[in-house]
Amino acid sequence: MADTNRGVVYQAPGEVTVEDLDFPKLELAEQDGRKLQHGAILKVLATNICGSDQHMVRGRTTAPAGLTLGHEITGEVIETGRDVEFIKEGDLVSVPFNIACGRCRNCKERHTGVCENVNRERPGAAYGYVDMGGWHGGQARYAVVPYADFNLLKFPGDRDTVMAKLPDLAMLSDIFPTGYHGAYTAGVTTGSTVYVAGAGPVGLACATACLLLGAAVVIVGDMNEQRLAQARGFGCETIDLSQHGDVGEQIEQILGVPEVDASVDCVGFEARGQGHEGAQKEQPATVLNTLMEVTRAAGGIGIPGLYVTGDPGAADENARVGQLGLRIGTGWAKSEYFVTGQCPVMSYNRQLMMAILYDRVQIAKNVNATVIPLEEAPEGYAEFDRGAARKYILDPHGALADAA
Ligand SMILES: NC(=O)c1ccc[n+]([C@@H]2O[C@H](COP(=O)([O-])OP(=O)(O)OC[C@H]3O[C@@H](n4cnc5c(N)ncnc54)[C@H](O)[C@@H]3O)[C@@H](O)[C@H]2O)c1
Ligand SMILES: [Zn+2]
Ligand SMILES: [Zn+2]
Repeated sequence: MADTNRGVVYQAPGEVTVEDLDFPKLELAEQDGRKLQHGAILKVLATNICGSDQHMVRGRTTAPAGLTLGHEITGEVIETGRDVEFIKEGDLVSVPFNIACGRCRNCKERHTGVCENVNRERPGAAYGYVDMGGWHGGQARYAVVPYADFNLLKFPGDRDTVMAKLPDLAMLSDIFPTGYHGAYTAGVTTGSTVYVAGAGPVGLACATACLLLGAAVVIVGDMNEQRLAQARGFGCETIDLSQHGDVGEQIEQILGVPEVDASVDCVGFEARGQGHEGAQKEQPATVLNTLMEVTRAAGGIGIPGLYVTGDPGAADENARVGQLGLRIGTGWAKSEYFVTGQCPVMSYNRQLMMAILYDRVQIAKNVNATVIPLEEAPEGYAEFDRGAARKYILDPHGALADAA
C-alpha cells in the first residue's frame, strides 16, 4: 500500500493523540472479521470534530482508551469492494455519520440512524463512537465505509467546484442535517418563531436550517457570548443564559409573548443551569424542562442534543444511568410532541447539498468552519472544549489548504 494511515485516538479523559493506524481493509476485526465486499475505502479530504466526540473525550461515556475517533467524513473513493456497483474510484463523496445497511426494516423506512444490521448490541451505528458497533473512526487519512452504494452521497459536477465548496459540503456528514432534522421535526416552517437551545456548531446549524425553512424569528440561547455573537452575525436574536435564567421572560421581550411555535435542544445531557445561580452547575434536564415551558401548546420540540444510558461522570446516582428529573406534566398538559435520537442523515443530505451548491445557504460561514491539519487535532479538541466559536475541520491531506 502506497501511503500510511494516521488518525486521532482517544487515550484518557482530556487526552487525544494522533497515531499511526493500520490501513483500512474491507473487513472489520471488531465484528469477528465481518467481510465488507459492499464497502469502499476513502482518502479522507475533510473530517470534523464534533460535540459528540467531546462527550467521550471528557470522560462522560464508557468509551475505552485506544478508540479511534471521528464520524464526520468527506472524501474521495480510492477502492471499492467486489459488490459495489455504482460508486466508482475517484468519486467525491459525503459519508452520513450513521452506518446503515439499506436492507433492514428500519433502513427501508428511512430510519437509518437505527439500522438493525450494523451493531450487535443495539440498533444504530456510527464511525469511531462508543457503543456504536466497533467501526473505525474517520478522523484519519483513510477510512472504510460499508454498504458504499447505499451510504455514500456522491457530489455532482466538476472537481474544482466541489473542492471550492468543501468546507460547506463537509457539514453534510452530520451537523447540517442534524440541525435541520431538529428544526424540521419540531415543525419549523414559513413564519415560525423558534427557540434554539445551544449555540455550538449544532445549534448554529439548526438556526441556519430554521432560516432556510422560512422561520420569522430564530432565538438562540447559550451562556457563551462568542458563540451568541456568531448567531447574531447571520440574523438570529440571542439570549445570554449566564445573565438571564428565565427564558420565557426573555422570549417575551423579543416576541411580546413568552412562547415560541417550536423549539430545539442542541445541548444534550451536559447542560448547565441557566441564570446567575445555576450557570456553572450541570443540570442535565434543564434544557428539556425549559423547552416544554417555552413552547406553545401543541408545538413541537426537536431533540438532537445527545442523552446517554450511562454517564460515569454524572453528578448524581440517577443521572449516572441516564435518568433525569423531567417535568413531563408540563409537556403533557400542553399536548407537546418531541422527536429525539440520531439524525437519519440520509433523509436530508441531498437537499442540503443542493442548497449549498446553488448558494442558498452559507453553512461553513455560519458555524465559523476552521480548517486545521490532522496533526493539530489535540489542540483543536482542547480549543473546542474551551468553547471556541468554531467548527474544526481536520485536513488530513492538505487538500483544503491547497483549495483555499
Ligand atoms: N442527534 C444527533 O444525531 C446528533 C448529531 C450531532 C451532535 N449531536 C449532539 O448535539 C449536541 C450539540 O453538539 P455541538 O457540537 O454543538 O456541541 P457543543 O458542546 O459545542 O455545544 C453545546 C452548547 O450548549 C451550551 N449550553 C450548555 N448548557 C446550556 C443551556 N442550559 N442552554 C443553552 N445552551 C447551553 C454550551 O455552552 C455549548 O455552547 C451534543 O449533545 C451532541 O452530542 C447529536
Ligand atoms: Zn458529529
Ligand atoms: Zn439497515
